[in-house]
Amino acid sequence: MPQASPHLMQAAIDHLFRFDPLVVATTHSAMAQDPEAFMPKALRGYLGLMASERRDAFSGVRALQGARPETAEERAHAAAIDAWIKGDWHAASRILDASLAEAPTDALALLVGHQLDFFLGEARNLRDRVARALPHYEGERRGYVLGMSAFGLEECGDYRQAEADGMAALDSDPQDVWAIHALTHVNEMLGRTEAGLGFLEARRPSWARDTLLRIHCTWHRALFGLELMDHEGSFAALDTVLTGPDTGDSALSMADAGSLLWRLHLDGVDVGDRWTRLADAWAAKDSAPWYVFNDLHALLAFIGAGRMTEAAQRLAELEDLVRAPGGEGSNWLATATAGLAVARGLLAFGRQDHGAVVRHMAPVRHQLSIFGGSHAQRDVFQRTLLVSAIRAGETALARNLCAERLADRPASVWAGLQMKALTPLDR
Ligand SMILES: [Fe+2]
Repeated sequence: MPQASPHLMQAAIDHLFRFDPLVVATTHSAMAQDPEAFMPKALRGYLGLMASERRDAFSGVRALQGARPETAEERAHAAAIDAWIKGDWHAASRILDASLAEAPTDALALLVGHQLDFFLGEARNLRDRVARALPHYEGERRGYVLGMSAFGLEECGDYRQAEADGMAALDSDPQDVWAIHALTHVNEMLGRTEAGLGFLEARRPSWARDTLLRIHCTWHRALFGLELMDHEGSFAALDTVLTGPDTGDSALSMADAGSLLWRLHLDGVDVGDRWTRLADAWAAKDSAPWYVFNDLHALLAFIGAGRMTEAAQRLAELEDLVRAPGGEGSNWLATATAGLAVARGLLAFGRQDHGAVVRHMAPVRHQLSIFGGSHAQRDVFQRTLLVSAIRAGETALARNLCAERLADRPASVWAGLQMKALTPLDR
């Protein structure tokens, strides 16, 4: 029997470090070459789980039926996958961390754990899991781990070290798209719009090619443009990449598209029929609660399209989840802690009941990380709260929210405009 699997597995993991879509085909090749090997099946399972959708998760995990882990690391992966598919994403994260303590060079555990920290909004571990592993890496992979470190540091607000690690990663591999993405987040968080645009444009060949971050980096590029009121640029990004014909229907890509459309919506820009296409795509998906971050973006699409009945149905599913006796699991926790309040706030926004938006969302505005994503992604909800505070005449809150934004991003055109919008209310 050919024993090429270890080689193919390492190739697949290298593809994952580079966010290269070839990871999928290479994983299948590894499974085909050594049907008895556990790790290719584990990677197949993780690819499904990391898509953040129930259908993909179960499809991926099906590959592990009958698979027998043999080593301690393999048993840890089996346990992590089992916990994740059963809904305890936090347990999966802890299991991978425990395994990494014994085997810090288990790159798959590190990569998957990093994505879990992102899904769970655990900024500290997004930074520290990588920091614990970094001393054990050398060569090309150390460069990629530095890129991961840059993202964790950025989400923790350590922008200076994030830049240092991100640039070191790019010294190692100028095509490292996760490092490019991390440095883009630094520019976004510091409100460095021109610098952010310049950096992304200079690096365009690295992220606009066929990578798993092409759509997401396009979204980041559009956010910088939006800050400069480039609405046409946003539409171009939406129509060619974010909702274009070759985009597919992954929830994470659809979330980015809806998030950009909602920002335009908040600014009073007519987005044409783009909401309808997106709402149709969300309506075609399994609506049973799995990852509330995605549900909130489905709500943006339904509400943006004026389809309030579908929005109310999705909200009712979240309410049922939280009310169900004996609720537990990571998605239950995220929904109960902040997701449901934000969902109620979004429905209220759709009804133009801005006082209710404030009542639902203001109390949880510091807890949004529990439902995952990055600061930049969750900002769509923070902006919604600010716009509603202005429209509801909650001037003190609106002024505080503007001041917070301007303290973080002194050059922010958008925050400055919102502050201006407040002035008439003060007179
Ligand atoms: Fe991002």
